[in-house]
Amino acid sequence: MTEEYGTQLMLEAYTGQGGEWPWSPEEWERRAQAALPAGPWWYIQGAAGSGSTMRANADAFPRWRLRPRVLTGNSERDLSLEVLGMRSPLPFALAPVGVQSIAHPDGELAVARAARSSGVPMLLSTYSSHSIEEVASELGDTPRWFQLYWLSNREITESLVRRAEATGYEAIVVTVDTLRLGWREADLANGYLPFLQGEGIANLTTDPVFRALVGDAADDRAVAGFHAVSTFTNLALTWSDFAWLRSITRLPILAKGVLTAEAARQAVDAGCAAVIVSNHGGRQVDGAVAALDALVEVREALPELPLIFDSGLRRAADVLKARALGADLTLIGRPYMYGLAVGGQAGVERVIRVLAADLDVTLSLIGAHSVRELDRTWVERAP
Ligand code: FNR
Ligand code: LAC
Repeated sequence: MTEEYGTQLMLEAYTGQGGEWPWSPEEWERRAQAALPAGPWWYIQGAAGSGSTMRANADAFPRWRLRPRVLTGNSERDLSLEVLGMRSPLPFALAPVGVQSIAHPDGELAVARAARSSGVPMLLSTYSSHSIEEVASELGDTPRWFQLYWLSNREITESLVRRAEATGYEAIVVTVDTLRLGWREADLANGYLPFLQGEGIANLTTDPVFRALVGDAADDRAVAGFHAVSTFTNLALTWSDFAWLRSITRLPILAKGVLTAEAARQAVDAGCAAVIVSNHGGRQVDGAVAALDALVEVREALPELPLIFDSGLRRAADVLKARALGADLTLIGRPYMYGLAVGGQAGVERVIRVLAADLDVTLSLIGAHSVRELDRTWVERAP
């Protein structure tokens, strides 16, 4: 990102060239809601139970305050971060978000094109609406990781891993907080689960092992959706199963959904190269710890562990605080889904550009030269 990045976007806005795009995350959210039917909207925006985990995520950021430095001579700045050999020109990447066709028909293809044009890495969900292979070809050389839902059927799980490996995904991110779907009251009230309608199951309907199991019925959306949902729940999974995953792939493995130092240590012992501290954007456990508090706990216990953070990041200050508290990289989820709903590929590109500009402006004003430089000395707890 050039040093003019923030300046350019502000100039466009102040000279009336900002177009019709929203500026604040709240306005993106409103516009996305207006663009979507109730079922998809609440599925994307919603959280588990009372929503208290999602609120806790947001409320955790103002409890930490940045400590700006001044007159540091930072006319040149670097917003890039790298973890496990994956580099992003910005301090965030795109979180694995399933079933993107419910936000926009182009779904993951639009997001892949936006990732490619911005250089920001993409993590692809197992439950995507376009296949591992299709998304890889849209991404070109853009860095990508595959998020694995470890299904109750090992043969299908293995086939997914092999397909990701064959098409240039450079790590396997096992989501460990979603061995079943959370209790989501809005979706229950709406009677809405997109997979049952055949949305978000492209990786299964294109999978040779899944097809061999289900037969020609794999082409019937409702039947395929039913089979996809029935192999999803996998509460029998334990850390000891990771030895098997290790044995079938040469790719680094990450555990996504770690919220305690204990779980982070277990992930390392199970052979994970890194963890993603996350509570799934508050979608899984109602009343869980705020993701940012978990970040502090995990980073204090494991100072050297490669660590990625998500859940609740909306503005530059949030990203910079997470970085200062020990995240080697961050992920955004709903924000780019709102961009997708509002404007397809261009909407996702715009969300990335706006957050990049905010980051550039805020990083310059706290007197930093690089996001890499940020550590605990740059933040303090609010009094
Ligand atoms: C998700 N997330 C998710 N995570 C994952 O590992 N696999 C998945 O398929 C999905 N699917 C998914 C769908 C939708 C609609 C949302 C909003 C989220 C969780 C995602 O990767 C990430 O952890 C959160 O979105 C981060 O929180 P924020 O940025 O949305 O607050
Ligand atoms: C979700 C699943 C797909 O959060 O991860 O909706």
